[in-house]
Amino acid sequence: MDSEPSKTEATHSTSSRPASGEVGKAPGRATRPKKRATRHRKPPKNRRPNVILIGFMGSGKSTVGRLLAIRAGLRFVDLDQAISERVGMAIPTIFERYGEGGFRKLEAAVLGSLGQGPMVVATGGGIVDTRANIRRMRRLGKVCFLETSLEEVRKRLGNEQPGRPLWKDGEELARRYASRANLYEKAAHWTLNTDGIDPNEIVLQIVENLEKRGR
Ligand code: S3P
Repeated sequence: MDSEPSKTEATHSTSSRPASGEVGKAPGRATRPKKRATRHRKPPKNRRPNVILIGFMGSGKSTVGRLLAIRAGLRFVDLDQAISERVGMAIPTIFERYGEGGFRKLEAAVLGSLGQGPMVVATGGGIVDTRANIRRMRRLGKVCFLETSLEEVRKRLGNEQPGRPLWKDGEELARRYASRANLYEKAAHWTLNTDGIDPNEIVLQIVENLEKRGR
């Protein structure tokens, strides 16, 4: 399981010029130029959207998410990591103690209480199994589906995944994969196929897509 990286936040330097004053006159009195009547619109505080990555286990959401956050100077949130931190337990322990149902409730709660953006969120593969999560993600920002074939996922994850309690290769996994394919597609604003593609290339494609969509 990936660890949560530190926030990458922009620092703003504030430079204040010394006030210029006329000799012999108290600064800031009647000679001060009148304020113009024109209204100054504040620039929008947060024009960059949040980016939410969805896709099956092993589709590279955390890897791509972290790289994208670094590149764009955004906060990165790994939802599984945030869930673990919230309850002080590893994901497999949560499954053991509370079952998949308990995990889904926690997942929805943590998704619903994400802090301030702009941020990149890497979700868990089952986020789309809960309908309300899909609405929540689409309200939160731009949802990108990292589509990966089951064969490719198998190649990447192999047979055993101790940190992923639902990764048991076989019919059950194939059934899960098939039942989610449509949900990912519907939940996403756009889809990128990741088979055989380097994560850095996927990051570039996401950045391009965001620009095309007017961010
Ligand atoms: C799950 C995927 C996992 C994790 C949990 C359940 C799933 O995340 O949320 O084990 O239902 O597919 P990854 O997609 O990061 O492996």
